[in-house]
Amino acid sequence: MSSYVTRKTPGDTAWFRHDRFGMFIHFGLYALPSRHEWVKNHECTPEEKYQKYFDHFNPDLFDAREWARQAKAAGMKYAVLTTKHHEGFCLFDSQYTDYKSTNTPFGRDLVREYADAFRAEGLKVGFYYSLIDWHHPDFPIDMLHPRRNDPDAFEQNQGRDMHKYAEYMRNQVRELLTNYGKIDILWFDFSYSGNKPEPGKEWMKGKGKDDWEAEELIALARSLQPGIIIDNRTEMEQDLWTPEQYQPLEWIRHKETGELVTWEACQTFSGSWGYYRDETSWKSPEMLVRMLVNTVALGGNLLMNVGPTSRGYFDYRAVDALKAYGEWMKYNGRSIYGCTMAEPELLKTLPADCRYTQSEDGKRLYIHLFAYPFKHLQIHGLAGKVEYVQFLHDGSELLYTEKKVNHFSEGATQADDLLVIELPDVKPNVLVPVIEVFLK
Ligand code: GLC
Repeated sequence: MSSYVTRKTPGDTAWFRHDRFGMFIHFGLYALPSRHEWVKNHECTPEEKYQKYFDHFNPDLFDAREWARQAKAAGMKYAVLTTKHHEGFCLFDSQYTDYKSTNTPFGRDLVREYADAFRAEGLKVGFYYSLIDWHHPDFPIDMLHPRRNDPDAFEQNQGRDMHKYAEYMRNQVRELLTNYGKIDILWFDFSYSGNKPEPGKEWMKGKGKDDWEAEELIALARSLQPGIIIDNRTEMEQDLWTPEQYQPLEWIRHKETGELVTWEACQTFSGSWGYYRDETSWKSPEMLVRMLVNTVALGGNLLMNVGPTSRGYFDYRAVDALKAYGEWMKYNGRSIYGCTMAEPELLKTLPADCRYTQSEDGKRLYIHLFAYPFKHLQIHGLAGKVEYVQFLHDGSELLYTEKKVNHFSEGATQADDLLVIELPDVKPNVLVPVIEVFLK
């Protein structure tokens, strides 16, 4: 068994740490302008002008089953959909607002179709819910709000009642966790109480735990869906640590106790979360696979994002990226699911350009070849520990020698602790080849 123990949390993260790979979905009115899900903030768009996206929201090609099939084919085991993003628009039929998909030309409760379809496909169902709301009349204008530069922003703020907004969130979270069956993850986003307002504009301060009335909000969620996994972005520690758009270099630890925590990196294909037509920074298939491997090699999960087009389908670039994952995962998923960081004494043996993962039961070591070596993979420290070795993608045996390289040359490496795996000269047709080592 793996010797790594993560900090105990209120929710049930066992399935989550096993499954490792999920799909984030950012969908909302911002899919229409197609220039970042923060477009309303970036362009300081007034409500009257943003309204055109609501009036034209009609994802006629949306098919939740198709989304679910694509997620599953990519090897993803769960998903998290934006039920409401910072713009305030709700993809579900909430009785507490008119600003929802059922009142647009589309006329449907997208969250329901998503939840039903993903569950039917055998995937776990998660809801993202934005704490920030740039539409709600009670949400006080602050330094991130689209109205922040209005000369009369201070006046506009009078009468806005954060307490009422917090109640609105509880009402919506109650709807989301009551009307859509079992929900596995609740992903709040995000707190910024540490953001400093400009001098003289102290009333524009950022928001956090107390503003959201997070304790009550979370207690409510837990009472409705016991066992649900909740992230930490309410500013209250829960189940999930969520590094965003960077690659951690170590297993994330609890700040005070130093314990290992359950973590999930969230990443994008091209930079923004919502559909961004003109973005050219799409990651290569190889980098995408490496990001997944790097994450699991450090005991984490990867939540990889898709931003569907305003017509409701996945853009061809996202489809290609998902296919790259699917192709790799189909043959190499065994090094991801149920795997974690390799034991410390194995990690000491890690050769250059490789990443290890190890099965939870400790019996198999997976060596991911980020650069393909010529002929021999030499590993100091594994001699005597190995029972059988093969390529994971095709289950073809890889011969190995111990203590020395199988070569007549003088000067070929020799050492008591040396394991030498013999490789074909040509890299197999796999983005990142994986060697599966059955340990003794
Ligand atoms: C950030 C952004 C947001 C995105 C989220 C995903 O907090 O505000 O647009 O939804 O990260 O992690």
